[in-house]
Amino acid sequence: MKTELKNRQWLVAARPRGLVKESDFRWNETVVPPLEDNQILVRNIAFSFDPTQLGWMSMDTYIPKIPLGQVMRAGAIAQVVESRKAGFSKGDLVQGLFGWEDYSISQGKGLFGMQRLPPGTDPLLALSLFGTTGLTAYFGTLAVGEPKAGETFVVSGAAGAVGSVSGMIAKIMGCRVVGIAGGSEKCDWLIREAGFDAAIDYKHEGVGAALTASCPEGIDVYFDNVGGEILDLVLARLATGARIVLCGAISRYNEAEGVYGPGPRNYFNLTFSKARMEGFLVFHFTKRYQEAITALAQWHAQGKIKNKIDLQEGLENAPKTLIRLFTGANLGKQLLKAADPQ
Ligand SMILES: NC(=O)c1ccc[n+]([C@@H]2O[C@H](COP(=O)([O-])OP(=O)(O)OC[C@H]3O[C@@H](n4cnc5c(N)ncnc54)[C@H](OP(=O)(O)O)[C@@H]3O)[C@@H](O)[C@H]2O)c1
Repeated sequence: MKTELKNRQWLVAARPRGLVKESDFRWNETVVPPLEDNQILVRNIAFSFDPTQLGWMSMDTYIPKIPLGQVMRAGAIAQVVESRKAGFSKGDLVQGLFGWEDYSISQGKGLFGMQRLPPGTDPLLALSLFGTTGLTAYFGTLAVGEPKAGETFVVSGAAGAVGSVSGMIAKIMGCRVVGIAGGSEKCDWLIREAGFDAAIDYKHEGVGAALTASCPEGIDVYFDNVGGEILDLVLARLATGARIVLCGAISRYNEAEGVYGPGPRNYFNLTFSKARMEGFLVFHFTKRYQEAITALAQWHAQGKIKNKIDLQEGLENAPKTLIRLFTGANLGKQLLKAADPQ
């Protein structure tokens, strides 16, 4: 007779109002049910933390919201414990959308499917630079922003997972790169480690005046991760032909109206500057993922892109780790290690 596997989980207990709180989740202990045909049992090794998870808790977006009382959804690397589906074997390392729990059951396909990691892949690299955030930075910067050598490139959320990689790619393209981030530690890191040309600490200095000083000829590309007031200040300082990449709007995610509140005041400067503002989701580029991973891997090996990871530990700390994204506690890609691969 098989021994039952205990499964510790975090369930979604409430739809967040304002800043997401630990009490929006509920700890649960259960056992793993028997596996059915075509199912795969995996043990979660490491979780990705992404601002979009707040959206998954709150509303139907590009995927349905998580029902109350269900396990909190998360991108993760996991290891196959048992497989009743062809193509997956015990011990395989896989990547997919699983949940904040010790063990998840997957059908191996569809939205909640999974892919095997190529042998030898570092799981943390797969969840960061080669994961959603690295790919987002790659396509948003190159395919939407279209930076050219000599241009001024500004990125907000600059010390985060997407923003830092976006700025480093723009440097590779020969731009002058200005990052906007919260706090002196992050701004020092942008200049010393990430190779940015200038950094603006939006929590402690006037962003408008600092942008005017650091972008005397206007802003050619703005990679926007935060929306809100900073987007408006950039809109007031565009160079002719500027491109604004609408990647995220984290300053709005905790507001009552979320991203559906009033838009930017200075939007009409797009007309005066013959500029464009274009949104995208990383999933719009699915067919080009391999191209991005090949380029990112090469730049990483050449030391041109630093893959900064902020690693927390322990499944019990998952809610606290998610909150770090919204208080700005993370520097680089926020991950949490839940177990060691066997
Ligand atoms: N379009 C897509 O397909 C796609 C895919 C992935 C991510 N995204 C978006 O990309 C952005 C970055 O995501 P990420 O995963 O790389 O997260 P991240 O930047 O690593 O972490 C979030 C950062 O946002 C900043 N922040 C939090 N609240 C803020 C506020 N009120 N105002 C300004 N900054 C604030 C914090 O940095 P500071 O300390 O500097 O404030 C925090 O470290 C998010 O907006 C996310 O939704 C879009």
